[in-house]
Amino acid sequence: MCSQLKTPLFTALVEHAEKEPIQFHIPGHKKGYGMDSEFREFVGKNALSIDLINIGPLDDLHQPKGIIKQAQDLAAEAFGADYTFFSVQGTSGAIMTMILSVCGPGDKILVPRNVHKSIMSGIIFSGARPIFIHPEVDQNLGISHGITPESVQKALEQHPDTKAVLVINPTYFGVSGDLRKIVDIAHSYQIPVLVDEAHGAHIHFHDALPLSAMQAGADMAATSVHKLGGSMTQSSILNVKKGLVSPERVQTTLSMLTTTSTSYLLLASLDAARRSLATEGQSLLERSIRLAEQTRAQVNEITHLYCMGDEILGTSAIFTMDPTKLLVSVKELGITGYDAEKWLRKRFNIEVEMSDLYNILCIITSGDTEEDVLRLVHALKELADEFKHQADSDIDTNMVLPEIPVLALTPRDAFYSETEIVPFEESAGRIIAEFVMVYPPGIPIFIPGEIITEENLAYTKKNIEAGLPVQGAEDHSFQLLRVIKEHSIN
Ligand SMILES: Cc1ncc(COP(=O)(O)O)c(C=O)c1O
Repeated sequence: MCSQLKTPLFTALVEHAEKEPIQFHIPGHKKGYGMDSEFREFVGKNALSIDLINIGPLDDLHQPKGIIKQAQDLAAEAFGADYTFFSVQGTSGAIMTMILSVCGPGDKILVPRNVHKSIMSGIIFSGARPIFIHPEVDQNLGISHGITPESVQKALEQHPDTKAVLVINPTYFGVSGDLRKIVDIAHSYQIPVLVDEAHGAHIHFHDALPLSAMQAGADMAATSVHKLGGSMTQSSILNVKKGLVSPERVQTTLSMLTTTSTSYLLLASLDAARRSLATEGQSLLERSIRLAEQTRAQVNEITHLYCMGDEILGTSAIFTMDPTKLLVSVKELGITGYDAEKWLRKRFNIEVEMSDLYNILCIITSGDTEEDVLRLVHALKELADEFKHQADSDIDTNMVLPEIPVLALTPRDAFYSETEIVPFEESAGRIIAEFVMVYPPGIPIFIPGEIITEENLAYTKKNIEAGLPVQGAEDHSFQLLRVIKEHSIN
């Protein structure tokens, strides 16, 4: 039997539960008998019987030697990695591990400006100094894409002492840059590439999808199996290639960030999701891609709606895309993506993945049926019909990127500094202690530690006046900003 058909962890848990051991260990609910009865009945006895803990026969995620190690080894083989570490702290935990295992205080790390908050957390915890690169922005859709190999090359020429390059691949919207080229450039400086693969657990398993981090030769990838790979929410993996990073250090760092009460339900779901991806992923994804392409074509026939497709490809930042992501622009209807999300919920009981000012995002997976996508298309036709009378009140997506200010303190030093509140208009020249960003496209105007400039204050004001969603500051009205306290020396 192909070893990928086996599930050493999941199978061992089931076999252990079937032996019906008398449990004098945590969890105290003891197979559900010691918990609220309504919850027990709802969740079911199977799930509760494998909600176990790291007793002898069941291995330990912190020092895996048995069934967890076997499951991780099979995952490494399936994902093309040298080592795979399971995470019960989501991809956020895996991302912080990547950063903390290669960066220490003051070390430089190259990151796209539109990073997820876990990357900033990793930067704050490690004390690293971020060198930001602007991603390419799509003016029509109002979203940001990937970073280009050229911008990585330029940044590394200026900062050859950088300790790591972090890339988001693919983006939330399914777009990938030329990751292989970025890896080649970074490796020519002996610098490891860390990939935020939160939205790419499935891409390794079908040729029509963007290259996975491991296929592109990256050194580490934090991959949300729970998002698009079929495991339970919160379970993720960290894939590692040997060479530029130490797997021992990665294991130690991940362990430092991980609960000692690791959920075996989550771990078992990773084991089973890996089996499914490795043995039937190709055919399941084939179907999802077909369903998504068919839906995309039908949405694009609806007047005033646009569903992004491969016509956007063509630059090194917009190199390949995942067709299972359906990003639908509703801006021609003169409504926001948020309006569309609420309308779809109320009128059709449809829940989208996310919405922003201009778009809604729907994901298609092997869990969807023909009937589901037909209902979506029907609902979108009704939406377009309901709002067509206002179709010319187009929302302006024209975005100019803000200058990246000078970083005077590492985000960590800014986080731990004494701060005070000052009027927005009088804050130029001070060091900011909070984030200010426009979402979408989610690119910060300021991050903690940067020197406030008149230009970026003017940029912030312009965005607020245009009604764009400027977020992040403690004072939502942007009359005040929190800055680092300056001590006068007498
Ligand atoms: C781009 C990106 N990176 C990282 C994460 C964090 O993943 P998790 O929710 O598994 O911690 C997310 C979550 O939405 C994300 O969108």
